[in-house]
Amino acid sequence: MVKKFPENFWWGAATSGPQSEGRFNKQHANVFDYWFEQSPEEFYDQIGPDVASNFYNSFESDLSMMEELSFNSLRTSIQWSRLIDDFETGSVNQDAVRFYNEVIDTMIQKGIRPVMNLHHFDIPVELYHKYGGWESKKVVELFVLFAKRCFELFGDRVKDWFTHNEPIVVVEGGYLHQFHYPKLVDGKKAMQVAYNLNLASAKVIQLFKEMTTSGDSRIGIILNLTPTYPATNSAEDQQAAHIAELFTNRLFLDPAIKGEFPEELVELLKENQVLWESTKEELAIIKQYTIDYLGVNYYHPHRVKAPDISPNSVGEWVPDRYYDEYELPGRRMNLDRGWEIYPKAIYDIALSIKEHYGNIAWFVSENGMGISNEERYQDETGVVNDRYRIDFMTEHLTYLHQAIEEGANCFGYHLWTPIDCWSWSNAYKNRYGLISNNIHTQIKTIKRSGYWFKQVAKDNCLPQ
Ligand code: BG6
Repeated sequence: MVKKFPENFWWGAATSGPQSEGRFNKQHANVFDYWFEQSPEEFYDQIGPDVASNFYNSFESDLSMMEELSFNSLRTSIQWSRLIDDFETGSVNQDAVRFYNEVIDTMIQKGIRPVMNLHHFDIPVELYHKYGGWESKKVVELFVLFAKRCFELFGDRVKDWFTHNEPIVVVEGGYLHQFHYPKLVDGKKAMQVAYNLNLASAKVIQLFKEMTTSGDSRIGIILNLTPTYPATNSAEDQQAAHIAELFTNRLFLDPAIKGEFPEELVELLKENQVLWESTKEELAIIKQYTIDYLGVNYYHPHRVKAPDISPNSVGEWVPDRYYDEYELPGRRMNLDRGWEIYPKAIYDIALSIKEHYGNIAWFVSENGMGISNEERYQDETGVVNDRYRIDFMTEHLTYLHQAIEEGANCFGYHLWTPIDCWSWSNAYKNRYGLISNNIHTQIKTIKRSGYWFKQVAKDNCLPQ
C-alpha cells in the first residue's frame, strides 16, 4: 500500500539554540554554560556548549543543506540568555536581534517554515541565583517579558510558536533525578516548578492572544509523551502505570489542553503535603489559555511495575515511590543510548490523544536515534551509512501513517535533529543528525539517512 501523508505535512527536524548556536553572547550564562564552567568533568569528553554545531556562524550554509534535504519546516529556539540584556526591563541585545532576524529571513527565503520555541531547558543562571529559577513566580513574569520581546521582534514572520520543550525534564532533571542543574532531590520544589512552568506557558499564551490579531499564528507546547506500559495486567501494576502516567505526562498535558490538572493528582499531592502554591486568578488563566496545537516528542516507552517498597514509606517524597522501573525481557534496545526501541508506541500515543483529548492538532516534534562513534559507519566517500536510522524512521513513520489513516490529527514529523549537535551532559557522545558534523573541523556531510529523508519529504510518502 502507498503510504502517503496528508497534504502540507511538515517534514523537517528539530534543534535548539543552546545545542546548535555556540555561545555568541557572553554577557549572560544559561544554566548549562554555568554548570559546564563549574564542573566540566560532568560533561562527556569535557566538551561544553561554547561552540556546539556553530550555527551562529554557519546558519546560512546549514540552512542550505536543510533546503537541499527538502525540509519545509525547522524547529529551533530563541535563547533567553542571548536575546535579553536586562532580564528585569527586557532590553535586548542588538547582535542577537540581528542574528535571529537573519536566521528567520533565511529560513523563509529557503521555503523552510520557522517554528520557534522559547524555552529548551536554558533558563539564565542569574535567575536561579537571584530568585530560585522556576521555583519562583517572579521568574514566570520575567519569562513572559522575554516572550513579549520575541513576539514583538519576530512575530511578523514567525507564525508557529511553542512555549516550552519537555518541561517535565526540567522538573525531573533539576529536582528529582539530578541530571540537570540545580541537581536537587526535592519533591515539594519539583511540584512547584511543574506548576510554575504550566503557569508560565498559560501566561505566555494569554499574552500571545492579546498581541496577535491575525488568525494564522498559533502557539503550543512540546511534551515528551513517553507512554507508560504496566509490566503485567495485575491491578497493582496497572495502578503503578496509571500514577506514572499522571506524573510524567498528564501533569503537563491536561492543563495544556483541558486547562486543568487531573483531580486525582491534586488530591495525591495534597495528601502528601506537596501541593503547589496557586491562586484562583492563576488557575483561571490556566483554564482559559490552553494551546492551539501540540508537539509530541517520542523516543522510547516507559515500562513500570508496582513498587517493591510501600509508597507510604518514609523519606523524601518523590513521585517514583509509586512505581518501579521495569525492563521487558527481550526488549529491543538502542544500546548506545540505553533506550528501548518500540515504534508501536507512536501509534498508541496517537490513539490516546484522540481518545482523551479529542481533535487537538499535533505533530511529532522529536523522534530519533542517538548513536555513538558513528565514524565507524562511514563509507569510503565519508558518508555515514546509517541504515539503522532509516529503519528506525521507517518503522515509526509506518505506525504514524496507520494512526493518521485511523483519524489521528497529526500534521507533521520532525526528526531530532538536522545536524549532529551538542547535548546537555552527553555533549557529542550520541549523534542524531541527518547531517554529520566533524566537531574538530566543523565539516558537515549529509548521511545516507539524509538522502532517504529528502526523498520521503519530497514525495510526502514512504518509499514502497
Ligand atoms: C530530547 C531533548 O529529550 O532528547 C533534546 O529535547 C535532546 O534536547 C534529545 O538532545 C536527545 O537526548 P540526548 O540526551 O541523547 O541528547
